[in-house]
Amino acid sequence: MILIAGGTGRLGTVLTWRLAARGAHVRILTRDSERARHLLGEHVEVVEGDVRDPESLEAPLVGAEHVVSAIQGFAGPGGVSPRSVDRDGNVNLIDAAARAGAHVVLMSVVGASPDHPMELVRMKHAAEQHLRATTPGATIVRATAFMELWVDLLRQTAARGGRPLIFGHGTNPINFVSVRDVAALIDDVLDDPTARGSTIEATGPQNLTFRQFAGTLQGSPDGPAGAPRHVPRPMLRLMSVLAAPIKPEQARQARAALAMDTIDLTDHVAGEHATVKHLPTSLHDVLGTSAPHGAATDATS
Ligand SMILES: NC(=O)c1ccc[n+]([C@@H]2O[C@H](COP(=O)([O-])OP(=O)(O)OC[C@H]3O[C@@H](n4cnc5c(N)ncnc54)[C@H](OP(=O)(O)O)[C@@H]3O)[C@@H](O)[C@H]2O)c1
Repeated sequence: MILIAGGTGRLGTVLTWRLAARGAHVRILTRDSERARHLLGEHVEVVEGDVRDPESLEAPLVGAEHVVSAIQGFAGPGGVSPRSVDRDGNVNLIDAAARAGAHVVLMSVVGASPDHPMELVRMKHAAEQHLRATTPGATIVRATAFMELWVDLLRQTAARGGRPLIFGHGTNPINFVSVRDVAALIDDVLDDPTARGSTIEATGPQNLTFRQFAGTLQGSPDGPAGAPRHVPRPMLRLMSVLAAPIKPEQARQARAALAMDTIDLTDHVAGEHATVKHLPTSLHDVLGTSAPHGAATDATS
């Protein structure tokens, strides 16, 4: 049995469908089984638990051969945070998996390091460190930004007025990978004993600026009609300070938006002490459109 913590999420859902389609027994861990109702099936069961509560993890892990951690506390319901979910929650899950004798696949982020400007990335690094210190044979999969998440966010912000919202200048190239490819990679890792103990970095075929991303989206059949609007950097800086005491999630998002607008998030940062897998699905593939003849596929090329 494969326990997927975060099985209701964007990646977890695709992974669940994929594993169930090949007849693997999947158990989804969620805080609210209603959120997983649509995933229930012949090969899929659902259990409730919260990674912040170690006791709630004992029963769900009984009989688990693999545990996939596809959780995140950057945003979402339930007062989550990167500290409580990506660091401490993962530590609880890793320890529970060790007691159950299960192999762990930890989803992390390309660039995970102790001094990264994004709190989420620092907390992923802390979880990686705990995993490596306690659980030989565990597998870490780091990914770049999920393409499908940003397609949805740009579409959502364009829903009113037809113009997607870009945070900052939108001229910083970022590597995007498709969740379909990351799910396929995890599926391979689960079946491959030689992947045990490795760190794999999943990067996509394109480094795109948000302006390029929004332009491609605009050219798709149900894409937004208008050119993007921008939240200026000074506004993001102000939000990151003013929102901190009352709406920490918003402050966190503003800080992350500033980082995404300024630091190197291309696939060039991948590779240190890791196996890099360059995955093929492009933004045009995700949108079901074709790339214009001769169009650059990489903002940095
Ligand atoms: N999105 C990206 O661009 C990106 C890039 C690189 C790596 N990753 C990593 O890939 C993984 C999947 O990301 P995603 O974007 O697919 O996630 P997502 O759609 O935001 O889903 C997050 C999941 O975390 C679960 N979760 C949150 N708090 C929890 C808690 N306290 N206890 C148990 N479960 C909890 C949620 O489950 P319930 O709400 O059902 O409880 C949900 O299924 C994450 O580890 C993420 O950090 C994401």
